[in-house]
Amino acid sequence: MRPSQTVPATPQAWAEVDLDAYRANVRALAARAPTAQLMAVVKADAYGHGLVPVARAAREAGADWLGVATLEEALALRAGGDEGPLLCWLAAPGADFAAAARCDIEVTASSAEQLAEILAADVVPRIQLKVDTGLGRNGAFGDQWGELVSAAVDAAAAGARLTGVWSHLACADEPDHPANDAQEARFRDAVDDLRAAGLDPGLRHLANSAALLTRPSAHFDLVRAGIATYGLPPDPAMPHDVPLIPVMTLRARLAAVKRVPAGQGVSYGYRHVTDRETTLGLVPIGYGEGVHRAATGRAETWVRGRRVAVVGTICMDQMVVDLGDLPAERGDVVTLFGPGGAGEPTAVEWAQASGTIAYEVVTGLGGRIHLTHTDDPGRSR
Ligand SMILES: Cc1ncc(COP(=O)(O)O)c(C=O)c1O
Repeated sequence: MRPSQTVPATPQAWAEVDLDAYRANVRALAARAPTAQLMAVVKADAYGHGLVPVARAAREAGADWLGVATLEEALALRAGGDEGPLLCWLAAPGADFAAAARCDIEVTASSAEQLAEILAADVVPRIQLKVDTGLGRNGAFGDQWGELVSAAVDAAAAGARLTGVWSHLACADEPDHPANDAQEARFRDAVDDLRAAGLDPGLRHLANSAALLTRPSAHFDLVRAGIATYGLPPDPAMPHDVPLIPVMTLRARLAAVKRVPAGQGVSYGYRHVTDRETTLGLVPIGYGEGVHRAATGRAETWVRGRRVAVVGTICMDQMVVDLGDLPAERGDVVTLFGPGGAGEPTAVEWAQASGTIAYEVVTGLGGRIHLTHTDDPGRSR
């Protein structure tokens, strides 16, 4: 998304990021895992909330670590001034591991082959080992893990700096899913494998937000919290006891209002036809901004203190809301989603309307939306 510096005085559509709420979430989550360090996961432009300002707020709130997927993201954090512990975990062949080392970025080896690539760099960074305990995605799986441990023993003997071992859960948002126990047991075995090979496993970590919230046995030395730091639940049905404040509010200004008779078709394909005389409002935001077209006919917005339905097909640049007899005017603020406290829809509701998860709703925003940050570290909650 566009950074805050470029926001015009009256943007058409913008996302407000409440960094005070973000800091409150980070603190509340850290308190829920008191025996572990906390890594704030800020990959994918901090889930669409703005990488550098969110990273700064994470550190202010006491996050011990930052975590990102790619080396490019990690380097962007260093360029933005971050100097603290920082891990990245996804590198295709050819990644510049020497640059990581020069910038004090820890990298992840997911196979013996990748460890060799990292060690081939002229400056070798600190390395964490990733074991696939059953996610079936990144990390050393099955025999690959034994190969990685052997390679790590050789690397350590040659002076490599191995600092941690970690894995990622497949079903943490379903706390009773048997895969959680199985993966945790496999992770403990992997840690034992390292010890049996004479290596210090270093920092052990397994938990994402869901496991942080529901599975203390998986906290180990560090928890990696992403979605919950943004105030959104990993799954709306997952019970937890940490008060989370949604950080992002998405707004636009009504670009037009018009009175139409009953029987008027609205937007492409006439998927909606008015059933009475009503006022339609034009909202200048659409799938070009990452608002899901699938929410057509299902989502609601908030205008002048009232819920207002999105009607007709959501287009690339715009969507239409049915204002009924609300005395709305061109220029009025339309809130698509926010924390929900005043009655406005939430990102979780938009996810349900779009047939997706809240992660995708916030992370997928972009295009012409301007990103603004409210930042008052002194404000208390
Ligand atoms: C390796 C890893 N750890 C932690 C997280 C954070 O997950 P969540 O946003 O569910 O807390 C992610 C995000 O997908 C991840 O890829």
